[in-house]
Amino acid sequence: MPNAKIAGIGFYVPEQVVTNFDLMKVMDTSDEWIRERSGIIERRYGKKHEETPTTMAAEAAKVAIERAGISKEDIDFIIFATLSPDYYFPGCGVLLQRELGITKTEIGALDIRNQCSGFIYGLSVADQFIKSGMYKNILLIGSEMHSMGLDFSTRGRAITALFGDGAGAVVLQPSEDENKGVLTTHLHSDGTHAEELAMLSPGSHGGKHLPDVDFGFPPADELGEIFVYDNLLENKSYYPQMDGQLVFKKAVTKFPEVIMEALTKTGYTPADIDMLVPHQANLRIAQFVQKTLQLPDDKVFNNIMKYGNTTAASIPIALCEAWEQGKVKEGDLVCLAAFGSGFTWGSALIRW
Ligand code: COA
Repeated sequence: MPNAKIAGIGFYVPEQVVTNFDLMKVMDTSDEWIRERSGIIERRYGKKHEETPTTMAAEAAKVAIERAGISKEDIDFIIFATLSPDYYFPGCGVLLQRELGITKTEIGALDIRNQCSGFIYGLSVADQFIKSGMYKNILLIGSEMHSMGLDFSTRGRAITALFGDGAGAVVLQPSEDENKGVLTTHLHSDGTHAEELAMLSPGSHGGKHLPDVDFGFPPADELGEIFVYDNLLENKSYYPQMDGQLVFKKAVTKFPEVIMEALTKTGYTPADIDMLVPHQANLRIAQFVQKTLQLPDDKVFNNIMKYGNTTAASIPIALCEAWEQGKVKEGDLVCLAAFGSGFTWGSALIRW
């Protein structure tokens, strides 16, 4: 059974740079606070009403497709991971198909809603499809436009300061060499803390506020009002919410655990890792993981300083930059790991 290998990789970040000092103009925060707690210096925001997760994904995908040496018509499956989709439905997979001008309908498009670990989940799914022989050229995307959904008042500062926009893409193909490509993937979830890092609306959970009515269900327009009133206006539940300290505590445990799981499965140790590309959640989390695994500085790639946390896009963006800078080379053992909302977490080991 062939493994999936990354045949092409690309990323796109919007032009507009937003520094911590820029955020200080709209909310009570400081460059010092953001840098010290997260390592972030600046992030990118897409052009309002022009750029979307889909348009950014298309830019990243074009690069990945070209580098894979194929044409867009060769893509036989799309996997799109995002928590900030263009629409509530349909998902971004089909929108990307249209944006790229892929007119054939023999392909499938799957949307992944696993937030920060969306790319690893997508990679694992793609690897299974390739191992089974079902698909030969899978386009896997992580793309986020957080800037359209953040609370830019002081109330939202603990979350807003952390996030940025961007997209990363890979083309996955069967590896001719069974010792190359994706060697193993490990996925986990624990719904106990689902609301501790979440955006609750729009969502059907508003049903619990429905008044008692004889016919069982209120008329549609009343239902709409309830949704709008209860969830969208009063509770501001259309903004993300997070228990930062809980997320931090869980992340620093789960990252090393899931990395060790992948290493143990394949008979490697942390010393065998040539490059760890962790989900860019927070520089302090990445440093904690690095220390736990006793990895030297040149074996961990971080770029959160420039882009903030781009959720599903952070791993492919970081992996692409590491590769472009010559820090990921042919034959290297590359480890990817993520933890985030859900909670969900996962890891992948790739022989490049
Ligand atoms: N600027 C200035 N002050 C801020 C601020 C900001 N952007 N955000 C929060 N604060 C304030 C808080 O209001 C609080 O003030 P108070 O003491 O007067 O109440 C103070 O800073 C400390 O807040 P706290 O939430 O305890 O800070 P923290 O040390 O836990 O750091 C995070 C907050 C979010 C940086 C940290 O918890 C974290 O990194 N968590 C993980 C988040 C993450 O990685 N999420 C993505 C996962 S994929």
